[in-house]
Amino acid sequence: MADMQSTAAAAPAIIRRSDYRPPDWLVPDITLDFDLDPAATRIRGMLAVRRNGDHDRPLRLDGDRLVPLEVKVDGQLLDTGQWSMEAGALLIPLTGESHSIETLVEIAPEGNSKLMGLYASGGLLCTQCEAEGFRRITFFPDRPDVLSRYSVRMAADKARYPILLANGDPVDQGDLPDGRHWARWNDPFPKPCYLFALVAGDLACNADRFVTMSGREVKLGIWVKEADLPRTAHAMQALKNSMAWDERVYGREYDLDVFNIVAVADFNFGAMENKGLNIFNSRYILADPETATDIDYDGVEGVVAHEYFHNWSGNRVTCRDWFQLSLKEGFTVFRDQSFSADMGSHAVKRIEDVRILRAAQFQEDSGPLAHPIRPESYMEISNFYTATIYNKGAEVIRMMALMLGPERFRKGTDLYFERHDGQAATCEDFVQAMEEGGEIDLGQFRLWYEQAGTPRVRASLSHDPATGIAELALEQAVPATPGQPDKQPMAIPLRVALFDRASGTHHGDELLMLTEASERFSFKGFTDAPVLSINRGFSAPVIVETNHDQADLAFLSAHDDDPFARYEAMQQLMVNVLIGKIGGHAVDEAAVIAAVRHTVTDPALDPAFIAETIRLPSEAYLGDQMRVVDPDAIHAARDGLQQRIGAELEPLWRDIHAKTKANGFSLSSTAKGARKLRNTALHYLVASGVVDGPAVAYAQFDEADNMTERQAALATLANGTSAEREAALDIFYNRYRDDALTLDKWFQTQAFAFYPETVDLVEELGRHRDFTMTNPNRVRSLYGAFAGNQWAFHHKSGKGYRLVADCIIALDKLNPQTAARLVPPLGRWRRFDDMRGAMMRAELQHILAEPGLSKDVTEQASKSLE
Ligand code: PHE
Ligand code: ZN
Repeated sequence: MADMQSTAAAAPAIIRRSDYRPPDWLVPDITLDFDLDPAATRIRGMLAVRRNGDHDRPLRLDGDRLVPLEVKVDGQLLDTGQWSMEAGALLIPLTGESHSIETLVEIAPEGNSKLMGLYASGGLLCTQCEAEGFRRITFFPDRPDVLSRYSVRMAADKARYPILLANGDPVDQGDLPDGRHWARWNDPFPKPCYLFALVAGDLACNADRFVTMSGREVKLGIWVKEADLPRTAHAMQALKNSMAWDERVYGREYDLDVFNIVAVADFNFGAMENKGLNIFNSRYILADPETATDIDYDGVEGVVAHEYFHNWSGNRVTCRDWFQLSLKEGFTVFRDQSFSADMGSHAVKRIEDVRILRAAQFQEDSGPLAHPIRPESYMEISNFYTATIYNKGAEVIRMMALMLGPERFRKGTDLYFERHDGQAATCEDFVQAMEEGGEIDLGQFRLWYEQAGTPRVRASLSHDPATGIAELALEQAVPATPGQPDKQPMAIPLRVALFDRASGTHHGDELLMLTEASERFSFKGFTDAPVLSINRGFSAPVIVETNHDQADLAFLSAHDDDPFARYEAMQQLMVNVLIGKIGGHAVDEAAVIAAVRHTVTDPALDPAFIAETIRLPSEAYLGDQMRVVDPDAIHAARDGLQQRIGAELEPLWRDIHAKTKANGFSLSSTAKGARKLRNTALHYLVASGVVDGPAVAYAQFDEADNMTERQAALATLANGTSAEREAALDIFYNRYRDDALTLDKWFQTQAFAFYPETVDLVEELGRHRDFTMTNPNRVRSLYGAFAGNQWAFHHKSGKGYRLVADCIIALDKLNPQTAARLVPPLGRWRRFDDMRGAMMRAELQHILAEPGLSKDVTEQASKSLE
């Protein structure tokens, strides 16, 4: 068999959307027989195949490092001359219209460090097939538009693997000689092979039930290691809430009699929506107050919902090809965001989601890896599970929902689900269903699927006191991105309101559609010049530049009734001061301090909203506002402002910190909001430099009855150089050294710290005995967090770049998918000064020079250099 790795490194093939062709052969039914063993698992695959269309091409079954031990056609064993191999795939010439094909292969799950296909994790055997892992298990046309009914039989050692799970419903089980046993599962719903899953292991179950809207009872199971059972309650509640929510909001009912979730310790992403058998990274299932922060709890709720919602948006209606990935991911992220907003605070959830979008997606969109939400080509599909596909994809759906309004949007989604149930669909199918069901023309709007890059909108408001007319001039431009030098104007929905300065109110919120490169909108009846509030609720994923002065921003930060716009005004006020400071201009820090004071003391505001709003923009976000990012200047300016806000409002921080101390843990939004504000107050208090700051933080660390407060105190201490820093880190380590998910926080907190020696510390932690490259969570906690720490990663020595490059090279040999995800931070070299840029490029070249580099890392590193 050809060595695919070196072939790939020489000339990775480019797959293009325009090359799509329907499958040559369909596989209506498949029966799989697994003889499970960590060292040698035998898999017999029996496929009923049917010729699709009039052609004489052979049957091509994808395989990745599989060797056919047997090949049978219609029960007859073929000899080796009757089939051939091509790039890992098995080719069988066939004469008739329908045949039964049988193959036998053997694989070694315990040696599978890529975590794709069948692999071992913490004593379990489990699978991960999206996007192209199924071909590492058995020969099959591994593409999402081949849908089959699955019947799966597993046999394994009963003592080691007492639980045997697969998709669909359990049908039968029994014992075998030699201490082995078997089970059979059938999934009645035809599905693409990326949704196949099985799990074998010694698992305990949190069992519950849900009665659907039509009165069917569904058995729910969350399967974990026995010791983790007490940490599954939140996930179970989230699952039941998701099931009820999808019925209520989208009219979607669950379809099988069982729904199982399994938590595994080693997983490349967050979780996977396999039909009836979701497999999760344990960090999105396990939560208790001792080990999970409120952010972790929300993560569990959101990801459980996300994977459950895929049952309709992804499984019942799947993707025709991987270029349509955002069809299921963008829509499902939109659905999980809406769900989480309904479970908690809409205002805070929107702010958090926009913060993530700006941090991850806007950066992607402005760099060498920018791509549209429906890409045109790829080398390795794993590299396209991006913030663009997911988060910008969700924003595009959100814009449609906004333009249509709830009722017409629901008509559109009903039509989409009804029309495409059981099919492999395209993004275009979704847009058409929205157009027909929602009665709207989305002609120009489709550009959101085609054009990459974040549109920039310039907004300037002028006012004529003589006529009482306020005129809003809007201009838009979409920047050039790789392969797309020229852009067309987009259809951009902007929610706006014009505020009366004297009363602090407005006459209603309007949705403007900006469709031209430049356009003017007039508003009558203003004796005095109003203040513009624009892109309210972040109605469009664009960058808006206004002609607001600091007084306008202070006004909006005090009066805007749209929580997102109010937050945004405060952030912009801070950005202006910080960018001004960095540029050496005279700035009015007092205006920021006054606005913070005003927000913190406004009794009408929700504490969680206050905490979000008064936090300074991240160093990375400030970098995005500069032509050339200066990490040291950004850090100094931000640190200085933080210190000043801390010092000038010191009594306020002490007061809040004392008042928000709870007696007893609760997950209510009030309790979560109080913790969030308390941690923010602590942060400012310590930043002020008061002598007892570290002692107050240490006391919080020590007394906390929950991880939210304990970790925040630790993170605050980790930013400084106090004696308390070392003490707290030691205590934390010793307390949680045996709990992998919590120990991840210990690594992450240090890698993320604003600490002068972070670079050296990360190098040391990379050699720590608890560090391992085989667990993706651990790698992300150390190197992923570090690469997101702008000040430390971009240390002028270039050492940060070298650390990450060395990690990529070492990890690529084990787990190329996870390695490739560390490349983009190095690819941002154009945004930095020449010296840093040259060092970043040198590391990318150093990576590319590595022999046997994976397709995954090759694609990311070579595109990053272009
Ligand atoms: N489809 C998964 C999701 O819900 C993500 C995933 C992709 C997981 C690839 C594993 C591998 O978003
Ligand atoms: Zn998803």
